[in-house]
Amino acid sequence: MSAENRKETGTTEKVEAGKVKLIPVYVMGKRYYVPETLTIMKAMEYAGYRYIRGCGCRGGICGACATVYRKPGDYHLYVGLACQTVVEPNMYLAQIPFYPANRSSYNFEQLTANPEEIFKLYPEVFRCIACNSCTKVCPMDVQVMDVISAIKQGDIARAATLSFSCIQCGLCVSRCLGELPQYHIAQLARRIYGSKIAPRAQHLIEAVAAVKGGKYQERLEALMKCDVKQLTEIYQAREIEPEMAGEDWTPARRDYL
Ligand code: SF4
Ligand code: SF4
Ligand code: FES
Repeated sequence: MSAENRKETGTTEKVEAGKVKLIPVYVMGKRYYVPETLTIMKAMEYAGYRYIRGCGCRGGICGACATVYRKPGDYHLYVGLACQTVVEPNMYLAQIPFYPANRSSYNFEQLTANPEEIFKLYPEVFRCIACNSCTKVCPMDVQVMDVISAIKQGDIARAATLSFSCIQCGLCVSRCLGELPQYHIAQLARRIYGSKIAPRAQHLIEAVAAVKGGKYQERLEALMKCDVKQLTEIYQAREIEPEMAGEDWTPARRDYL
């Protein structure tokens, strides 16, 4: 992010700007008055920061906007996602656009779902001292210590399931006394689980075979000959699944299923 245009306004605790109440927040030590309803991310933009990195989806999914902050008279270090956390008066905050973590290199095709492979790639997994700091800091409520514990027990499926909500924000790494890269380890577990352990979905196998067999080729070629206007019309005329559709809903036109 850059702060070329950042500005500081007012000196009192709460200021009125029209009908919006402004509250003071401290971004990397500098005070700004921002509307009290904004998220940290929007507040920083309001203050004049421009995001170059440390911002992605703005929807709590990409993990790019990890933020650390303190509140007055409180020794706790709080964490949150800047795009999801609403500002509070006098919070001191700093964003962590990137937190360095060891990521091992591997040829995924050569892995066989043997837990020993993860141990070799990430021997630091055994440096975990079970302090649970990682779990406490996770904005997605991932039971991070349990993920690491499952890995150590060789239960890749459990580690993959437990870490499903991880958005790779890196906050767990920032607190780890054992210096583990938890999110890289968990991601490897999920990759292995998805590719080499989870049962194959029969309907997906059939769909892939249908694609390879050329079932959609004629239609695809017809689409590729369309201009933008024709494509737009086709897109707008498509059948859309109703919002309240039940699990047994299927489209009326089934020739391309
Ligand atoms: S497990 Fe770690 S990297 Fe993943 S969301 Fe939680 S704190 Fe962020
Ligand atoms: S923060 Fe590190 S040492 Fe502590 S429980 Fe989590 S992985 Fe283990
Ligand atoms: S910008 Fe993606 S999680 Fe905040």
